[in-house]
Amino acid sequence: MGLSPVISASSSTSAPDTRGADLHAGYSGSSDSHRLDPSPLRVSLTDVQKTFDVGRGRTVQALVDIDLDIAEGEFVALIGPSGCGKSTVLRLLAGLDTTSSGEVELFGSPPEELSRQHRLGVAFQEHALLPWASVSSNISLPYKVAGRSVDKNRVAELIKLVGLTGFEKALPKQLSGGMRQRVAIARALVLNPSLLLLDEPFGALDAVTRRRMNSELARIWSEERLTTLLVTHDVDEALILADRVVVMSGRPGKIHHVEKVDLPRPRDTSVTRTPAFHELVDKLTGMLDGAGEDS
Ligand SMILES: Nc1ncnc2c1ncn2[C@@H]1O[C@H](COP(=O)(O)OP(=O)(O)O)[C@@H](O)[C@H]1O
Ligand SMILES: [Mg+2]
Repeated sequence: MGLSPVISASSSTSAPDTRGADLHAGYSGSSDSHRLDPSPLRVSLTDVQKTFDVGRGRTVQALVDIDLDIAEGEFVALIGPSGCGKSTVLRLLAGLDTTSSGEVELFGSPPEELSRQHRLGVAFQEHALLPWASVSSNISLPYKVAGRSVDKNRVAELIKLVGLTGFEKALPKQLSGGMRQRVAIARALVLNPSLLLLDEPFGALDAVTRRRMNSELARIWSEERLTTLLVTHDVDEALILADRVVVMSGRPGKIHHVEKVDLPRPRDTSVTRTPAFHELVDKLTGMLDGAGEDS
């Protein structure tokens, strides 16, 4: 079975959302277990250690004993204090760095393989849009990088999906911060990636715009149903979006807790006003407070 079922299922938005229940049925062990039964249809980090050599014989142990599976079609959020290794996890998954020991597998292949096949969608806080290129050209960029002809229908579909209709020809400097982030997310989605990696994509936005973007991303994700890992500082953001929230502690960075989020879908920011949401915020914030902020 390939990856196309998830992507082709993306257009059926009318079906009831039973996906979370199916996903978690495969998990073994206790409710906060984060290992799935073996299957190539998932992303996995197995016994991953990462040590950085910082010169003069000194090393920084950034990650120890990281074991995490992400099921196909699942949205996982990664939270933790600054410096606990969240970006390092993402970089390992993106094939931008390698482990010191342990395995990273994306749907049965090493990350470099998916990267070579242009099956990774990546949006980091520094969204790095081309300043001289229009919204359309920025979103089309991955086709050019992949040496493929631009699918104008797909680009138009993405512009509509992220709510930028009418701004096709605008330059990044003519857009608000939230609009630029939407361009970056559209660009990450345009090639129908198998895995979407988001590192603090809304970190630079004000609180109101950030919440609006959370609702947008929740809606986009419910349409595209992509396997997604989101790194965030923001507990609310993690709970609005994710099927599971992974709490890391530093240092060295390790997985402290995995919380399955059973809040009903589809979700938007109105979920933040429910008692169940507040309970989860309290629980995870308490864990973060105990997890130790770096420096
Ligand atoms: N390229 C690097 N060289 C040396 N140390 C690094 C490098 N990248 C990250 N680190 C260190 O690894 C730890 C984890 O960093 P990072 O993954 O960026 O944390 P986070 O994203 O959670 O803030 C930090 O102590 C950081 O200083
Ligand atoms: Mg980081």
